[in-house]
Amino acid sequence: MASIEIANARKSYGAVHVLHGIDLAIADGEFIVLVGPSGCGKSTLLRMIAGLEDITSGDIRIGDDIVNDLQPRDRDIAMVFQSYALYPHMTVAQNMSYALTLRKTAKERIAESLAGVSEILGLNALLDRRPKALSGGQRQRVAMGRAIVRKPRAFLFDEPLSNLDARLREQMRTEIRKLHRRLNATSVYVTHDQIEAMTMADRIVAMHDGIIQQVGTPIEIYDHPANIFVASFIGSPAMNFLHGTCIKTDTTSAIRFADGHILPVAPRPGLYAGQEITLGARPEHVAIAAPETPGALPARVDLIEPMGLSTLIHVTLAGHELKIFTMDRPAFAIDSTIHIAFDIDKTHIFDRNSELRLPPVIKAPEETTKETSGANGT
Ligand SMILES: Nc1ncnc2c1ncn2[C@@H]1O[C@H](COP(=O)(O)OP(=O)(O)O)[C@@H](O)[C@H]1O
Ligand SMILES: [Mg+2]
Repeated sequence: MASIEIANARKSYGAVHVLHGIDLAIADGEFIVLVGPSGCGKSTLLRMIAGLEDITSGDIRIGDDIVNDLQPRDRDIAMVFQSYALYPHMTVAQNMSYALTLRKTAKERIAESLAGVSEILGLNALLDRRPKALSGGQRQRVAMGRAIVRKPRAFLFDEPLSNLDARLREQMRTEIRKLHRRLNATSVYVTHDQIEAMTMADRIVAMHDGIIQQVGTPIEIYDHPANIFVASFIGSPAMNFLHGTCIKTDTTSAIRFADGHILPVAPRPGLYAGQEITLGARPEHVAIAAPETPGALPARVDLIEPMGLSTLIHVTLAGHELKIFTMDRPAFAIDSTIHIAFDIDKTHIFDRNSELRLPPVIKAPEETTKETSGANGT
């Protein structure tokens, strides 16, 4: 296995610039998920690592080698695609050992690695079948087995689960993770599905328009999104956003919404009076509140979505549509007015122009007390 290092990698097709200077260091054994909307350049980046696309400029290093000019077959990596591309006329065993056969590996060695891999993947009973006699999940496993027997330096996955139904996708997610724990193989996994990114990644690389927006563990990205794009892309149901203006005195900060409602917030560097901001609140950080609760704001109920375990309440507040996540099963009438309160320490403030998050100050405990009493005084 090997680390992968990408330094200022760019890709253009003529005048079309697809990747704008990608820097990324992937540790040996790490499971990295590249996530972003369709067209943001994920596959292009993966294919550049694989050697299936030229690099317009920059360097890609696998282990100690700069691989820019190496042919795909000389890079010693394995790629698993959405379409499994198994040979239909070959059995599972032949499909999996094909690469070793091509390398003229000794028969006993092939049998040995095939036995190991088919054991890991639970394919022992299927070795003599042809692909058409397999389910989608089984084919996917054969495709992975074929990659594993080669003992590559890294695995590259391009949306390998997109063709599977929801339940199987969930199952394969777990299988791939378990497999990774077992093989500890450096892996780069491309998906547009943020749930796959959250559940599978050691670190997520969030991409948009050919630029890396943020790199971090799933929880870092979820709790501290760098900007509005990451905040809106990661998380389901998605984060709520409200536009407002900052009003600020020497001791307090607050946000005024278009309808005149005011929400006190903790002060933070970069927040100034008159600034146009976007408040971000995840659905689990908005709660139904009694009308007399300090800071509670009136909202209109638009829709109630029961999800069994939880309920999603859609409301309108100050012209913004918001979703509220609750483990209760409320029975509000549609169009009735309820009161909602933000878990204000967990909300995010983004500058509306730069779209960057303004991180809150981490304060000493005594200062926290002072600030809180100040904010309550308004
Ligand atoms: N051969 C090509 N010529 C011109 N543009 C291309 C070519 N291949 C891909 N692109 C463009 O590059 C962008 C990124 O594509 P891709 O990496 O496939 O995105 P993703 O995998 O994130 O959906 C897209 O806008 C796509 O249209
Ligand atoms: Mg793609």
